[in-house]
Amino acid sequence: MKQWKRLIIALDMESELRLNKTVRLLGRKIDKFKIGSVAFTRWGPRVVKKICRQGKEVFLDLKFYDIPHTMIKASFAAADLGVWSFTVHLSAGREALEALREELESFCRRRKIRRPLIMGVSELTSKKASLMRVLKLAEVGFLSKIDGIVCAAPEAKKIKEHFPVLKIVTPGIRTKVSDDQQRIATASFAFSQGADYIVVGRPITESPNILKAATELLSR
Ligand code: C5P
Repeated sequence: MKQWKRLIIALDMESELRLNKTVRLLGRKIDKFKIGSVAFTRWGPRVVKKICRQGKEVFLDLKFYDIPHTMIKASFAAADLGVWSFTVHLSAGREALEALREELESFCRRRKIRRPLIMGVSELTSKKASLMRVLKLAEVGFLSKIDGIVCAAPEAKKIKEHFPVLKIVTPGIRTKVSDDQQRIATASFAFSQGADYIVVGRPITESPNILKAATELLSR
C-alpha cells in the first residue's frame, strides 16, 4: 500500500470552509479523513455524508464508551452513515465489545450494508502510558474480535507481534514534542513498527501549505 493511502487526516477544525479546502486539496492524494468530536459536534452527520459523497472514506472517531446497549445503537448509526470505521474505548471491556461486534455484524447483514471496521482506543497518545497496560487493552480488542487498535508508534510493534490480525492506527505523529501529544513518532518510524495507518491533524492541517506539509511528513 502506498504511504499516501495509509495517511488519515484528522479534520479537527472549526471552519467548514477550511475543512472543505483540506478535503479538496488532500483528496487528490488520500482516501481517508477522520471526523472526531470537534467536527461532529459542530456539523453532525451532514459533514460525514458530504465527505462520503465525494468518494472518500470516513474514520468516525467518537470513541464510544457507554453501557453496551448505547454503544451498540451508536454503532448501528455509524454503519447507516456509511463510515469506513469508527472508534470505541477498549476500557468498555470484552463483553461489551464482543456484543457490539456481533450485533453490528447481524445489523449490517440484515441491512445489506458494509460493516464498518471497529477500532479500539487504548490509551490516548497525549498521556504517558505503560506498554503493559496498552498490551492488556489490545488483548481485550483481540479477544472481542474487533478489527484494530489505536495506539502510539512505540507500542505498535509488540501489539503486531502478539496480535497480528489487529490493524493498527497510530496518532501522535510528530518530529518533536510541540503540543499536547506525548507518545510521539515520525511517520516512517510508525510504519516501521507495524502501523497500518497513521492519523495526522495539526502538523498538516495548520500548515500554510498542507500538500507540502503532508509530503514532508511522509518522507520523515
Ligand atoms: O492534530 P493531531 O495530529 O494531534 O491529531 C491527532 C488526532 O488523533 C486527533 O484528532 C485526536 O483526537 C486523535 N487521537 C489521538 N490519540 C488517540 C486517539 C485519537 O491523538 N489515542
